[in-house]
Amino acid sequence: MILLPFALVRGFAGVLRPLRMLVAQGWMRESDADAGLALLHPALRLNRVFARVMQRQWVADDMLELTLRPNGNWRGAKSGQHVQLYLEREGVRLSRSYSLTAVQADGSLKIAIKQQPGGRVSPHLLEHLAVGDTLELGPVHGDLTWPEADHGVLLLAAGSGITPLLGLLRTALAQGFSAPITLLHYVREQGQRAFVAELQTLQAQHSNLQVRWSLTTDTAEPGAIAGRFTAEHLSAVPQLSQSRVLACGPAGFVGQVQQWWHAAELPGALQVEAFTPPALIADVSLRQVRLGFARSHQQTTADNQRSLLEQAEEHGLKPAHGCRQGICASCTCTLLSGTVRDLRSGALFSEPGQSIRLCISAPHADVEIDL
Ligand code: FES
Repeated sequence: MILLPFALVRGFAGVLRPLRMLVAQGWMRESDADAGLALLHPALRLNRVFARVMQRQWVADDMLELTLRPNGNWRGAKSGQHVQLYLEREGVRLSRSYSLTAVQADGSLKIAIKQQPGGRVSPHLLEHLAVGDTLELGPVHGDLTWPEADHGVLLLAAGSGITPLLGLLRTALAQGFSAPITLLHYVREQGQRAFVAELQTLQAQHSNLQVRWSLTTDTAEPGAIAGRFTAEHLSAVPQLSQSRVLACGPAGFVGQVQQWWHAAELPGALQVEAFTPPALIADVSLRQVRLGFARSHQQTTADNQRSLLEQAEEHGLKPAHGCRQGICASCTCTLLSGTVRDLRSGALFSEPGQSIRLCISAPHADVEIDL
């Protein structure tokens, strides 16, 4: 039974100050305080950010946009960034990062979730998460920003790469950005053109905005561009030689854009974000190693193939993390002893006291970390 209306939960952050002091001084455990607060409302916590699902809206055949209203512990974010979302399923704590498609003046935010067939998180969110449910949110990360100068802007998106770019676009148009904007969105099929109705409306309202879609497997409509990214698709982009470019999509798509941009020698900096992690180098031979978590006073047997983050979570620990791709640095931890291997490059690190990123480091030999 929920005893406190959600409308009051957001204002509770200040009221909880005495409880925080008790926790800080060791008189009470935060988990105990949280357990009591959750009886008042599932979104009420001492420090953790929980959000209530306010609205669900399908924006493509395979993409859902959620409107969330966080509790008073939320410290804000900017459009185009990503937020970590946590989910408990069958006793396992799972997390994924989703782009913010809107950060609204009333404190609510929107994220878009693309269906990943066979995934452990997105099918549950898409099929079972209901309005009124609560979710835990984690760190915010992401560096894409709308170019400051009044130059033209070219937005290149593939698949769910549309989501951070849409967040930036919505904000820029709302703030009156008037230079030419071109958005090219690459999708496999018609039904994957996310936010198509809204983008068409924005295009009708803003004469400086042109939106085009390229279908990479479906048959294209007459006159439409088709297939994967190529420089020919940019022939109709106004002021291309002066445009600032932002690209988001799978690593392969982003790599193609980078190649084109370097060849085209456009001004300004190219901003890119790849949402598939770089290929990780697997160790050829699987070995078992000892893994020690010093602060948690725990030891376990681990393998030398998977990241320390994954194996720590499997062991019931909850290390801070964000992107899980070695980008945001929120999983940084100190190596106390042993050798770890960078899963992206294969490089080995064994300097005690050195900072390592748990999400892209695997134990190479017996390892102790400050966790
Ligand atoms: S979680 Fe972002 S760098 Fe590890």
